[in-house]
Amino acid sequence: KSAAPTALRGRIVTFRADPFATDPSSALLIEEDGLILMENGQINAVGSYDRLRHRLSPDTTLVSYGKALISAGFIDTHVHYPQLPVIASWGEQLPQWLERYVFPAEAAFADPQLARDVARRFLRELMRAGTTTACAYCTVHPQSVDAFFTESERLGTRMIAGKVLMDRNAPAELRDTAASGHAESSALIARWHGRGRQLYAVTPRFAITSTPEQLEAAGDLLRTHDGVYLQTHLAENMEEIATVRRLFPERSSYLDVYDHAGLLGPRSVFGHAIHMTETDFCRCHETDSALAHCPTSNLFLGSGLFRVFDALDRRRPVRVGLGTDIGAGTSLSHLRTMGEAYKVAQLTGRSLHPAQALWLATAGAARSLSLDTQIGTIAPGMEADLCVLDPCATPLLRYRTERCASIEELLFVLMTLGDERCVKATWVAGRLIHENAGDTSSER
Ligand code: GUN
Ligand code: ZN
Repeated sequence: KSAAPTALRGRIVTFRADPFATDPSSALLIEEDGLILMENGQINAVGSYDRLRHRLSPDTTLVSYGKALISAGFIDTHVHYPQLPVIASWGEQLPQWLERYVFPAEAAFADPQLARDVARRFLRELMRAGTTTACAYCTVHPQSVDAFFTESERLGTRMIAGKVLMDRNAPAELRDTAASGHAESSALIARWHGRGRQLYAVTPRFAITSTPEQLEAAGDLLRTHDGVYLQTHLAENMEEIATVRRLFPERSSYLDVYDHAGLLGPRSVFGHAIHMTETDFCRCHETDSALAHCPTSNLFLGSGLFRVFDALDRRRPVRVGLGTDIGAGTSLSHLRTMGEAYKVAQLTGRSLHPAQALWLATAGAARSLSLDTQIGTIAPGMEADLCVLDPCATPLLRYRTERCASIEELLFVLMTLGDERCVKATWVAGRLIHENAGDTSSER
Protein backbone atom coordinates (compact mmCIF):
# COMPACT_ATOMS: atom_id res chain seq x y z
CA LYS A 1 0.00 0.00 0.00
CA SER A 2 1.25 3.46 -0.86
CA ALA A 3 0.61 4.88 2.61
CA ALA A 4 2.98 2.43 4.35
CA PRO A 5 6.53 3.70 4.82
CA THR A 6 8.97 2.07 2.40
CA ALA A 7 12.72 2.50 2.07
CA LEU A 8 14.93 1.69 -0.92
CA ARG A 9 18.64 1.06 -0.51
CA GLY A 10 21.03 1.23 -3.47
CA ARG A 11 23.27 3.48 -5.55
CA ILE A 12 21.33 6.69 -5.96
CA VAL A 13 21.94 8.79 -9.10
CA THR A 14 20.18 12.12 -9.47
CA PHE A 15 20.98 15.79 -10.07
CA ARG A 16 22.07 18.76 -7.99
CA ALA A 17 22.32 21.07 -11.04
CA ASP A 18 21.76 21.34 -14.80
CA PRO A 19 24.63 19.47 -16.55
CA PHE A 20 24.29 21.78 -19.57
CA ALA A 21 24.82 24.86 -17.39
CA THR A 22 27.77 23.55 -15.37
CA ASP A 23 30.43 20.84 -15.48
CA PRO A 24 28.34 17.72 -16.26
CA SER A 25 30.12 15.51 -13.69
CA SER A 26 29.61 17.91 -10.83
CA ALA A 27 25.91 18.27 -11.73
CA LEU A 28 25.37 14.63 -10.77
CA LEU A 29 24.39 13.83 -7.19
CA ILE A 30 25.57 10.33 -6.34
CA GLU A 31 25.10 8.32 -3.16
CA GLU A 32 27.06 5.05 -3.46
CA ASP A 33 25.23 3.39 -0.55
CA GLY A 34 22.08 5.47 -0.39
CA LEU A 35 18.69 5.26 1.27
CA ILE A 36 15.39 6.74 0.07
CA LEU A 37 12.53 6.98 2.57
CA MET A 38 9.05 7.13 1.01
CA GLU A 39 5.60 7.56 2.50
CA ASN A 40 2.18 8.56 1.13
CA GLY A 41 3.50 8.54 -2.42
CA GLN A 42 6.28 11.02 -1.70
CA ILE A 43 9.97 10.99 -0.91
CA ASN A 44 10.58 11.99 2.72
CA ALA A 45 14.36 11.73 2.96
CA VAL A 46 17.36 10.88 0.78
CA GLY A 47 20.96 10.36 1.84
CA SER A 48 23.59 7.85 2.79
CA TYR A 49 22.39 4.63 4.37
CA ASP A 50 24.61 5.26 7.38
CA ARG A 51 23.19 8.71 8.01
CA LEU A 52 19.53 7.74 7.54
CA ARG A 53 19.34 4.18 8.90
CA HIS A 54 18.20 5.42 12.32
CA ARG A 55 14.99 6.62 10.65
CA LEU A 56 13.99 3.08 9.64
CA SER A 57 11.15 2.10 11.95
CA PRO A 58 9.92 -1.46 12.60
CA ASP A 59 6.97 -0.93 10.24
CA THR A 60 9.17 0.33 7.36
CA THR A 61 9.55 -2.08 4.46
CA LEU A 62 13.20 -2.02 3.37
CA VAL A 63 14.10 -3.12 -0.18
CA SER A 64 17.82 -3.45 -0.94
CA TYR A 65 19.04 -3.22 -4.51
CA GLY A 66 22.74 -3.72 -3.88
CA LYS A 67 24.85 -2.30 -6.71
CA ALA A 68 21.87 -1.39 -8.89
CA LEU A 69 21.32 2.30 -9.68
CA ILE A 70 18.23 4.07 -8.40
CA SER A 71 17.19 6.98 -10.62
CA ALA A 72 14.13 9.15 -10.87
CA GLY A 73 11.66 7.45 -13.23
CA PHE A 74 12.18 8.29 -16.90
CA ILE A 75 9.97 10.94 -18.52
CA ASP A 76 8.91 10.58 -22.15
CA THR A 77 8.01 14.06 -23.44
CA HIS A 78 6.56 12.95 -26.79
CA VAL A 79 4.84 9.67 -27.61
CA HIS A 80 1.74 8.36 -29.46
CA TYR A 81 0.19 5.48 -27.55
CA PRO A 82 -2.19 4.51 -30.42
CA GLN A 83 0.80 3.88 -32.69
CA LEU A 84 2.09 0.94 -30.66
CA PRO A 85 0.49 -1.48 -33.19
CA VAL A 86 2.49 0.07 -36.08
CA ILE A 87 5.90 0.49 -34.45
CA ALA A 88 8.56 -0.85 -36.86
CA SER A 89 6.68 -0.19 -40.12
CA TRP A 90 8.88 -0.25 -43.22
CA GLY A 91 9.83 2.00 -46.05
CA GLU A 92 8.45 5.55 -45.69
CA GLN A 93 9.31 9.04 -44.55
CA LEU A 94 6.89 11.18 -42.53
CA PRO A 95 4.06 12.18 -44.95
CA GLN A 96 3.75 8.75 -46.60
CA TRP A 97 4.32 6.89 -43.31
CA LEU A 98 1.36 8.78 -41.77
CA GLU A 99 -0.90 7.91 -44.73
CA ARG A 100 0.16 4.31 -45.10
CA TYR A 101 0.44 3.16 -41.48
CA VAL A 102 -0.61 5.72 -38.87
CA PHE A 103 -3.99 6.94 -40.07
CA PRO A 104 -5.40 3.40 -40.57
CA ALA A 105 -4.07 2.38 -37.14
CA GLU A 106 -5.62 5.41 -35.45
CA ALA A 107 -8.98 4.87 -37.20
CA ALA A 108 -9.31 1.58 -35.29
CA PHE A 109 -9.65 3.58 -32.04
CA ALA A 110 -13.28 4.27 -32.86
CA ASP A 111 -13.68 0.95 -30.99
CA PRO A 112 -13.43 1.73 -27.25
CA GLN A 113 -12.50 -1.88 -26.39
CA LEU A 114 -9.48 -1.67 -28.69
CA ALA A 115 -8.54 1.67 -27.15
CA ARG A 116 -8.63 0.11 -23.67
CA ASP A 117 -6.52 -2.87 -24.76
CA VAL A 118 -3.84 -0.74 -26.41
CA ALA A 119 -3.76 1.81 -23.55
CA ARG A 120 -3.21 -1.04 -21.09
CA ARG A 121 -0.50 -2.67 -23.14
CA PHE A 122 1.21 0.67 -23.76
CA LEU A 123 1.30 1.68 -20.10
CA ARG A 124 2.54 -1.76 -19.12
CA GLU A 125 5.38 -1.37 -21.64
CA LEU A 126 6.19 2.08 -20.22
CA MET A 127 6.54 0.56 -16.75
CA ARG A 128 8.81 -2.15 -18.18
CA ALA A 129 10.98 0.63 -19.61
CA GLY A 130 11.15 2.47 -16.26
CA THR A 131 9.19 5.41 -17.67
CA THR A 132 6.81 6.80 -15.08
CA THR A 133 5.50 9.92 -16.86
CA ALA A 134 4.68 10.55 -20.52
CA CYS A 135 3.27 13.38 -22.56
CA ALA A 136 1.06 11.35 -24.89
CA TYR A 137 -1.02 11.86 -28.01
CA CYS A 138 -4.27 9.91 -28.16
CA THR A 139 -6.41 9.82 -31.34
CA VAL A 140 -9.18 12.09 -32.57
CA HIS A 141 -11.69 9.93 -30.64
CA PRO A 142 -12.50 11.22 -27.13
CA GLN A 143 -12.81 7.62 -25.87
CA SER A 144 -9.11 7.09 -26.69
CA VAL A 145 -8.37 9.72 -24.03
CA ASP A 146 -10.74 8.17 -21.50
CA ALA A 147 -9.08 4.78 -22.07
CA PHE A 148 -5.60 6.21 -21.46
CA PHE A 149 -6.38 8.24 -18.35
CA THR A 150 -8.50 5.45 -16.86
CA GLU A 151 -5.55 3.05 -17.02
CA SER A 152 -3.09 5.71 -15.81
CA GLU A 153 -5.33 6.47 -12.84
CA ARG A 154 -5.44 2.76 -12.00
CA LEU A 155 -1.63 2.63 -11.98
CA GLY A 156 -1.32 5.95 -10.12
CA THR A 157 1.02 7.43 -12.74
CA ARG A 158 1.38 11.11 -13.56
CA MET A 159 0.48 11.44 -17.24
CA ILE A 160 -0.21 14.25 -19.69
CA ALA A 161 -2.45 13.39 -22.65
CA GLY A 162 -4.97 14.81 -25.06
CA LYS A 163 -7.36 14.22 -27.95
CA VAL A 164 -5.82 14.85 -31.38
CA LEU A 165 -7.41 17.74 -33.27
CA MET A 166 -7.56 17.29 -37.09
CA ASP A 167 -10.07 19.06 -39.31
CA ARG A 168 -8.40 18.72 -42.72
CA ASN A 169 -5.90 16.71 -44.79
CA ALA A 170 -6.77 13.47 -43.02
CA PRO A 171 -9.22 10.60 -43.78
CA ALA A 172 -12.86 11.56 -43.14
CA GLU A 173 -13.24 9.09 -40.26
CA LEU A 174 -10.37 10.80 -38.45
CA ARG A 175 -11.56 14.38 -38.86
CA ASP A 176 -13.31 16.57 -36.33
CA THR A 177 -14.26 20.23 -36.88
CA ALA A 178 -12.98 23.36 -35.20
CA ALA A 179 -16.21 23.47 -33.17
CA SER A 180 -16.52 19.75 -32.30
CA GLY A 181 -12.82 19.46 -31.45
CA HIS A 182 -13.14 22.45 -29.12
CA ALA A 183 -16.26 21.08 -27.42
CA GLU A 184 -14.83 17.56 -27.00
CA SER A 185 -11.54 18.91 -25.66
CA SER A 186 -13.40 21.13 -23.15
CA ALA A 187 -15.36 18.14 -21.89
CA LEU A 188 -12.19 16.04 -21.53
CA ILE A 189 -10.43 18.86 -19.68
CA ALA A 190 -13.37 19.08 -17.26
CA ARG A 191 -13.28 15.30 -16.74
CA TRP A 192 -9.53 14.71 -16.44
CA HIS A 193 -7.33 17.78 -16.00
CA GLY A 194 -6.03 17.88 -12.44
CA ARG A 195 -7.93 14.74 -11.42
CA GLY A 196 -5.37 12.95 -9.22
CA ARG A 197 -2.12 12.97 -11.18
CA GLN A 198 -3.68 13.36 -14.66
CA LEU A 199 -3.05 16.47 -16.77
CA TYR A 200 -4.56 17.49 -20.11
CA ALA A 201 -2.77 18.61 -23.28
CA VAL A 202 -4.59 20.42 -26.09
CA THR A 203 -3.31 18.44 -29.10
CA PRO A 204 -3.59 19.84 -32.63
CA ARG A 205 -1.66 17.14 -34.57
CA PHE A 206 0.30 19.66 -36.69
CA ALA A 207 -0.25 22.68 -38.90
CA ILE A 208 -1.04 20.56 -41.98
CA THR A 209 -4.07 18.81 -40.43
CA SER A 210 -5.66 21.85 -38.74
CA THR A 211 -7.33 24.84 -40.37
CA PRO A 212 -6.43 28.29 -39.04
CA GLU A 213 -9.86 28.22 -37.33
CA GLN A 214 -8.98 25.03 -35.46
CA LEU A 215 -5.61 26.43 -34.37
CA GLU A 216 -7.44 29.53 -33.08
CA ALA A 217 -9.84 27.25 -31.18
CA ALA A 218 -6.83 25.48 -29.62
CA GLY A 219 -5.51 28.88 -28.53
CA ASP A 220 -8.87 29.63 -26.96
CA LEU A 221 -8.76 26.36 -24.98
CA LEU A 222 -5.31 27.29 -23.63
CA ARG A 223 -6.41 30.78 -22.61
CA THR A 224 -9.58 29.63 -20.88
CA HIS A 225 -8.26 26.62 -18.91
CA ASP A 226 -5.62 27.06 -16.24
CA GLY A 227 -2.56 24.84 -16.39
CA VAL A 228 -3.43 22.80 -19.49
CA TYR A 229 -0.65 21.87 -21.90
CA LEU A 230 -0.25 22.26 -25.65
CA GLN A 231 1.50 19.59 -27.70
CA THR A 232 2.07 19.46 -31.43
CA HIS A 233 4.71 18.71 -34.10
CA LEU A 234 7.15 21.27 -35.52
CA ALA A 235 9.66 21.34 -38.39
CA GLU A 236 10.28 17.60 -38.57
CA ASN A 237 10.52 16.85 -42.31
CA MET A 238 11.44 18.96 -45.37
CA GLU A 239 8.34 17.99 -47.40
CA GLU A 240 6.14 18.73 -44.36
CA ILE A 241 7.75 22.17 -44.00
CA ALA A 242 7.15 22.96 -47.70
CA THR A 243 3.47 22.00 -47.31
CA VAL A 244 3.10 24.25 -44.26
CA ARG A 245 4.63 27.13 -46.21
CA ARG A 246 2.08 26.53 -49.00
CA LEU A 247 -0.87 26.30 -46.58
CA PHE A 248 0.14 29.39 -44.57
CA PRO A 249 1.85 31.74 -47.07
CA GLU A 250 1.20 34.73 -44.83
CA ARG A 251 3.18 33.31 -41.86
CA SER A 252 6.92 33.97 -41.55
CA SER A 253 7.84 30.42 -40.43
CA TYR A 254 6.36 27.09 -39.33
CA LEU A 255 6.71 28.18 -35.69
CA ASP A 256 4.97 31.47 -36.54
CA VAL A 257 1.85 29.51 -37.59
CA TYR A 258 1.51 28.33 -33.99
CA ASP A 259 2.65 31.65 -32.53
CA HIS A 260 -0.03 33.51 -34.49
CA ALA A 261 -2.71 31.24 -32.97
CA GLY A 262 -1.44 31.90 -29.43
CA LEU A 263 -0.04 28.40 -28.95
CA LEU A 264 3.41 29.27 -27.57
CA GLY A 265 4.05 29.34 -23.83
CA PRO A 266 5.55 27.67 -20.76
CA ARG A 267 3.30 24.60 -21.06
CA SER A 268 3.76 24.15 -24.81
CA VAL A 269 5.81 21.18 -26.03
CA PHE A 270 6.86 21.03 -29.68
CA GLY A 271 7.94 17.65 -31.04
CA HIS A 272 11.08 17.31 -33.21
CA ALA A 273 11.99 20.95 -34.08
CA ILE A 274 14.81 19.68 -36.30
CA HIS A 275 14.85 22.35 -38.98
CA MET A 276 14.94 25.50 -36.86
CA THR A 277 16.34 28.97 -37.51
CA GLU A 278 18.03 31.10 -34.87
CA THR A 279 14.91 33.30 -34.92
CA ASP A 280 12.79 30.23 -34.08
CA PHE A 281 15.00 29.27 -31.13
CA CYS A 282 14.91 32.87 -29.86
CA ARG A 283 11.11 32.93 -30.04
CA CYS A 284 10.90 29.63 -28.11
CA HIS A 285 13.19 31.11 -25.47
CA GLU A 286 11.13 34.33 -25.20
CA THR A 287 7.87 32.44 -24.81
CA ASP A 288 9.42 29.69 -22.63
CA SER A 289 8.17 27.02 -25.07
CA ALA A 290 9.79 23.56 -24.81
CA LEU A 291 11.07 21.10 -27.41
CA ALA A 292 10.91 17.29 -27.45
CA HIS A 293 14.01 15.62 -28.90
CA CYS A 294 13.09 12.26 -30.46
CA PRO A 295 16.30 10.72 -31.79
CA THR A 296 15.15 7.18 -32.62
CA SER A 297 12.21 8.57 -34.59
CA ASN A 298 14.28 11.15 -36.43
CA LEU A 299 16.76 8.47 -37.52
CA PHE A 300 14.06 5.89 -38.35
CA LEU A 301 12.06 8.25 -40.60
CA GLY A 302 15.22 9.92 -41.94
CA SER A 303 13.91 13.29 -40.77
CA GLY A 304 17.21 14.89 -39.73
CA LEU A 305 19.43 15.68 -36.77
CA PHE A 306 18.17 17.70 -33.77
CA ARG A 307 20.80 20.20 -32.60
CA VAL A 308 20.51 19.82 -28.85
CA PHE A 309 23.47 22.05 -27.98
CA ASP A 310 22.08 24.83 -30.21
CA ALA A 311 18.66 24.53 -28.58
CA LEU A 312 20.23 24.75 -25.11
CA ASP A 313 22.65 27.59 -26.03
CA ARG A 314 23.34 29.46 -22.77
CA ARG A 315 22.63 32.84 -24.38
CA ARG A 316 18.97 31.93 -25.00
CA PRO A 317 18.32 28.41 -23.68
CA VAL A 318 15.22 26.53 -24.76
CA ARG A 319 14.00 23.74 -22.49
CA VAL A 320 14.41 20.26 -24.01
CA GLY A 321 13.31 16.78 -22.96
CA LEU A 322 13.71 13.37 -24.61
CA GLY A 323 10.82 11.72 -26.40
CA THR A 324 10.48 8.25 -27.89
CA ASP A 325 7.82 9.26 -30.46
CA ILE A 326 6.47 5.71 -30.74
CA GLY A 327 5.40 4.55 -33.41
CA ALA A 328 8.01 6.44 -35.50
CA GLY A 329 10.45 5.89 -32.66
CA THR A 330 11.89 2.42 -32.39
CA SER A 331 12.00 1.83 -28.64
CA LEU A 332 10.06 2.80 -25.53
CA SER A 333 13.28 2.50 -23.54
CA HIS A 334 14.81 5.82 -22.54
CA LEU A 335 18.16 4.05 -22.15
CA ARG A 336 17.98 3.26 -25.88
CA THR A 337 16.76 6.80 -26.60
CA MET A 338 19.70 8.30 -24.64
CA GLY A 339 22.08 6.10 -26.63
CA GLU A 340 20.61 7.33 -29.92
CA ALA A 341 20.69 10.96 -28.71
CA TYR A 342 24.42 10.46 -28.20
CA LYS A 343 24.79 9.22 -31.79
CA VAL A 344 22.73 12.12 -33.20
CA ALA A 345 24.97 14.57 -31.32
CA GLN A 346 28.06 12.76 -32.67
CA LEU A 347 26.72 13.31 -36.21
CA THR A 348 26.53 17.05 -35.45
CA GLY A 349 30.10 17.03 -34.17
CA ARG A 350 29.32 17.20 -30.45
CA SER A 351 29.62 14.65 -27.63
CA LEU A 352 26.65 14.34 -25.31
CA HIS A 353 27.89 13.56 -21.79
CA PRO A 354 26.08 10.68 -20.04
CA ALA A 355 24.98 13.07 -17.27
CA GLN A 356 23.48 15.32 -19.95
CA ALA A 357 21.69 12.36 -21.55
CA LEU A 358 20.25 11.23 -18.19
CA TRP A 359 19.19 14.83 -17.51
CA LEU A 360 17.25 14.97 -20.79
CA ALA A 361 15.49 11.74 -19.77
CA THR A 362 14.65 12.80 -16.18
CA ALA A 363 15.21 16.20 -14.51
CA GLY A 364 15.51 18.18 -17.76
CA ALA A 365 12.42 16.47 -19.17
CA ALA A 366 10.53 17.35 -15.97
CA ARG A 367 11.65 20.95 -16.34
CA SER A 368 10.55 20.99 -19.99
CA LEU A 369 7.09 19.92 -18.80
CA SER A 370 7.11 22.44 -15.91
CA LEU A 371 6.84 19.51 -13.50
CA ASP A 372 10.30 19.81 -11.92
CA THR A 373 8.92 20.57 -8.46
CA GLN A 374 7.06 17.22 -8.53
CA ILE A 375 9.07 14.72 -10.58
CA GLY A 376 12.44 14.15 -12.28
CA THR A 377 14.80 14.19 -9.29
CA ILE A 378 15.18 12.27 -6.05
CA ALA A 379 14.73 14.76 -3.22
CA PRO A 380 12.50 15.28 -0.17
CA GLY A 381 9.01 16.42 -1.15
CA MET A 382 9.21 14.97 -4.66
CA GLU A 383 6.73 12.34 -5.85
CA ALA A 384 8.16 8.84 -5.35
CA ASP A 385 8.50 7.76 -9.00
CA LEU A 386 11.71 5.76 -9.40
CA CYS A 387 13.40 3.23 -11.62
CA VAL A 388 16.06 0.76 -10.61
CA LEU A 389 18.70 -0.05 -13.23
CA ASP A 390 20.68 -3.28 -13.07
CA PRO A 391 24.19 -2.85 -14.51
CA CYS A 392 24.54 -6.65 -14.70
CA ALA A 393 21.31 -7.40 -16.56
CA THR A 394 23.04 -9.37 -19.32
CA PRO A 395 26.35 -11.24 -19.44
CA LEU A 396 27.88 -8.60 -21.71
CA LEU A 397 26.66 -5.74 -19.48
CA ARG A 398 28.07 -7.47 -16.45
CA TYR A 399 31.39 -8.04 -18.21
CA ARG A 400 31.63 -4.44 -19.40
CA THR A 401 30.33 -2.68 -16.28
CA GLU A 402 32.72 -4.62 -14.05
CA ARG A 403 35.40 -2.60 -15.86
CA CYS A 404 33.81 0.81 -15.20
CA ALA A 405 35.85 3.19 -13.06
CA SER A 406 33.07 5.71 -12.37
CA ILE A 407 29.31 6.13 -12.26
CA GLU A 408 29.56 8.29 -15.37
CA GLU A 409 31.23 5.52 -17.31
CA LEU A 410 28.65 3.08 -15.97
CA LEU A 411 25.83 5.37 -17.13
CA PHE A 412 27.40 5.60 -20.57
CA VAL A 413 27.67 1.82 -20.89
CA LEU A 414 24.04 1.47 -19.73
CA MET A 415 22.77 4.00 -22.29
CA THR A 416 24.81 2.39 -25.06
CA LEU A 417 24.08 -1.28 -24.35
CA GLY A 418 21.03 -1.18 -22.09
CA ASP A 419 17.26 -1.34 -22.61
CA GLU A 420 14.19 -2.72 -20.78
CA ARG A 421 16.23 -5.71 -19.63
CA CYS A 422 18.12 -3.37 -17.28
CA VAL A 423 15.00 -2.12 -15.53
CA LYS A 424 14.94 -4.20 -12.38
CA ALA A 425 12.01 -2.35 -10.80
CA THR A 426 9.71 0.60 -11.37
CA TRP A 427 8.13 2.43 -8.43
CA VAL A 428 5.18 4.78 -8.92
CA ALA A 429 4.06 7.05 -6.08
CA GLY A 430 5.94 4.83 -3.65
CA ARG A 431 4.39 1.59 -4.92
CA LEU A 432 6.21 -1.21 -6.72
CA ILE A 433 4.50 -1.39 -10.13
CA HIS A 434 6.95 -3.48 -12.17
CA GLU A 435 9.61 -5.96 -11.22
CA ASN A 436 12.01 -7.84 -13.48
CA ALA A 437 13.49 -10.86 -11.77
CA GLY A 438 15.91 -11.28 -14.68
CA ASP A 439 16.75 -14.54 -16.33
CA THR A 440 20.47 -14.10 -16.81
CA SER A 441 21.58 -13.63 -13.21
CA SER A 442 23.17 -17.07 -13.04
CA GLU A 443 25.04 -16.63 -16.33
CA ARG A 444 28.59 -15.40 -16.30
N1 GUN B 1 3.64 14.74 -37.55
C1 GUN B 1 2.28 14.73 -37.52
N2 GUN B 1 1.82 13.60 -36.96
C2 GUN B 1 2.89 12.87 -36.63
C3 GUN B 1 3.06 11.60 -36.00
O1 GUN B 1 2.11 10.91 -35.64
N3 GUN B 1 4.34 11.18 -35.81
C4 GUN B 1 5.41 11.92 -36.18
N4 GUN B 1 6.64 11.46 -35.97
N5 GUN B 1 5.28 13.12 -36.78
C5 GUN B 1 4.04 13.58 -37.00
ZN1 ZN C 1 5.00 12.54 -32.77
